[in-house]
Amino acid sequence: MKISIFGLGYVGCVGIGCLSKQGHHMVGVDVSDVKVDLINQGKPTIVEKDIDQLISEGHQAGRIRATHDYMDAVTNTDISFLCVGTPSSDNGHLDLTYILQTAHQIGQALKEKNGFHIVVIRSTVFPGTNAKMTEIIEQESGKKHDVDFAVVSNPEFLREGTAVQDYLNPPLTVLGSSCPKAIEVMRSLYQDLTDAPIEVVEIGVAEMIKYVNNSYHALKVVFANEVGNICKQLGIDSHEVMRIFCMDKQLNISPYYFRPGFAYGGSCLPKDLKGLKTLAHDLYLETPVLNAIEHSNELHILQVIRQIEHLENHRAVQGLPKMRIGVLGLSFKAGTDDMRNSPIVNVIESLHGKGYDVRIYDKNVSLSRLIGRNKSVIASKLPHLNEMLQEDLTAVTDWADCIIIANKDDAFRQARIAIGTPIIDLVRIKELEGQEGYNGLCW
Ligand SMILES: NC(=O)c1ccc[n+]([C@@H]2O[C@H](COP(=O)([O-])OP(=O)(O)OC[C@H]3O[C@@H](n4cnc5c(N)ncnc54)[C@H](O)[C@@H]3O)[C@@H](O)[C@H]2O)c1
Repeated sequence: MKISIFGLGYVGCVGIGCLSKQGHHMVGVDVSDVKVDLINQGKPTIVEKDIDQLISEGHQAGRIRATHDYMDAVTNTDISFLCVGTPSSDNGHLDLTYILQTAHQIGQALKEKNGFHIVVIRSTVFPGTNAKMTEIIEQESGKKHDVDFAVVSNPEFLREGTAVQDYLNPPLTVLGSSCPKAIEVMRSLYQDLTDAPIEVVEIGVAEMIKYVNNSYHALKVVFANEVGNICKQLGIDSHEVMRIFCMDKQLNISPYYFRPGFAYGGSCLPKDLKGLKTLAHDLYLETPVLNAIEHSNELHILQVIRQIEHLENHRAVQGLPKMRIGVLGLSFKAGTDDMRNSPIVNVIESLHGKGYDVRIYDKNVSLSRLIGRNKSVIASKLPHLNEMLQEDLTAVTDWADCIIIANKDDAFRQARIAIGTPIIDLVRIKELEGQEGYNGLCW
């Protein structure tokens, strides 16, 4: 294929080298004279393992050239990859100047071009940028998206230092576009390049993923360093601790816990996090990331109460009486009666304190069977549990004006909740999603 690449920095230069290796004819575009000249001399614009050879071979084979002329680049290629910089602005926002500039340039060039053109956003951009680019290109070119041209979000995952290796062996390829034809072209392009899975997702997901990836990577570094500092002070080998940590592929290095849902709770997570923080504190160590975890969890619990208050304010305006609230699930997860540090207990306690009438159903929780710490949790936080707890699911669902679903008991999937009744789902019950009144806590 004939492919143009806008931006000849790390991402663009590696892209030109790797795609030309696949036999594609590449045209690089940059505003920098130096970078355009380097590519036209068969030299890379960056220092990276293997890139010299790729650029030199592609140049010698007549498959790589560079230009300042974006009209030339767009009108003589089928696809344009956008790899221009998207730096942070002074106030921490993303500076989209360069990428939006390329949208204007591509739009102007497409006005002069016959034939379908695909614009691929490789740069890291905020959600909504794909739509903004599409709008600019339509305005400039007078052409119609998904008919004359298409925009595809295709984030780049390479790391500097191993950029060529990463480009050729990505963990996965992510594509987001409203145009199936463009997706098929991109799919065939990547199928030749790598065996990695190709995930076609909504545009917003494709735009968001790079931010989530990199923020998580930053979190991993800081987490390991905080653990390292504590271990060092205790004379424990931190590398050995993290090696063992990484060996647990069921809970640690795994998708487990990585689902947006409700706050964590239970008898172990809150207690042991507190323990580690206390250890650090006693060693006079600052561990701001570990310290922030509990606060974030508390805010997440508050979010449920805010959503209830929001609904209540609407009802008050309509002159309706205070909501009756039904809670499905009381233990911190389905299949247990453990209520120690169950965050829903805090929500119920707060709602009760605010004067809401609350009824609860949880098949695993029975007052008569409560013993030990469970009993004292309830005695201190929910002394009125007796009056709230119902034996029958429908005694809650038929009665309540608003339902909170707090754990994934199978029975809740078939719960009969009147259409339009507000549901605040803390655990994502798929069967209820889409029902009028349904509201996922953070999805
Ligand atoms: N560097 C990485 O490791 C990496 C990895 C993945 C994603 N990304 C993302 O990819 C994008 C590019 O990153 P980079 O490190 O390659 O940036 P870079 O700064 O090295 O290169 C960007 C290039 O774009 C050029 N440019 C600016 N405006 C232009 C225009 N209108 N036309 C043509 N060229 C223009 C600049 O002159 C520069 O050479 C960023 O959004 C970045 O966040 C970077």
